[in-house]
Amino acid sequence: MDWGMSNRLSRIIRPETGRTVMLAVDHGYFLGPTSGLEEPAKTIAPLVGYADCLMLTRGILRACVDPSVNVPIMLRVSGGRSILGELSDEGTTVSIRDAMRMNVSGVAMSIFVGAELERKSLLGLADLINEAEEFGIPVLAVTAVGKEMNRDARYLSLACRIAAELGAHIVKTYYCDEFEKVVKSCPVPVVIAGGKKIPEREAIDLSYNAITRGAAGVDMGRNIFQSDHPVAMIKTVREIVHKDLTPDKAWDLFNTLANEKKAKV
Ligand code: R5P
Repeated sequence: MDWGMSNRLSRIIRPETGRTVMLAVDHGYFLGPTSGLEEPAKTIAPLVGYADCLMLTRGILRACVDPSVNVPIMLRVSGGRSILGELSDEGTTVSIRDAMRMNVSGVAMSIFVGAELERKSLLGLADLINEAEEFGIPVLAVTAVGKEMNRDARYLSLACRIAAELGAHIVKTYYCDEFEKVVKSCPVPVVIAGGKKIPEREAIDLSYNAITRGAAGVDMGRNIFQSDHPVAMIKTVREIVHKDLTPDKAWDLFNTLANEKKAKV
């Protein structure tokens, strides 16, 4: 692997632990001003200092993130449909040239295994990897879920493995029962999305279970920025990801941090 590629990967996944806490705030690319991200700059500012990497789109990066902030960027470069349309009909939205101009550490694209437009999305990923490889830019494949497919180990292993076979450097997927099977059969690091907002204690358990079953970290959005205590939540998730903090201890930590904040208000 060339130096540029290795250097960028080491900015995304911390070499000290081999793990990452990626903060996902790219949801607007198909959801518009979703809850918690109505004013992205306000959401991102207090959290960015605790993220190993920030996942977002070109527009939000330019408009809402101070360029002097020292955080690696995972740029979402796929899109083109909204929640009202056929989501699997995505295409590439940002050129590698522009991604490089923004000094990104990686680019991300969704694939839709099992969807009607599966082939289009997989070949789109392959094209992106071919181009990104030329400049040493890692590609994160986001395994989205086809309408008829369950989020189980069988389906997620299929989607993750195909992404890795095409050359993705990191794969993002969902947590599931027998998650270790998904990780084992995917030869590149797997990170988990948090999914829809769930109670904080459950998100803590989810993070811990994913990490102890082999995830290289989280690429988490709503369970952080939609929490009533987003800073306490991201700090807690960091401790789980980088220090294997157990769920009970993590829950105590979350409550302590949340109460400290309340006491200050
Ligand atoms: C999908 O909208 C994006 O790829 C998100 O980055 C991803 O789903 C992770 O965010 P969350 O933890 O909210 O699921």
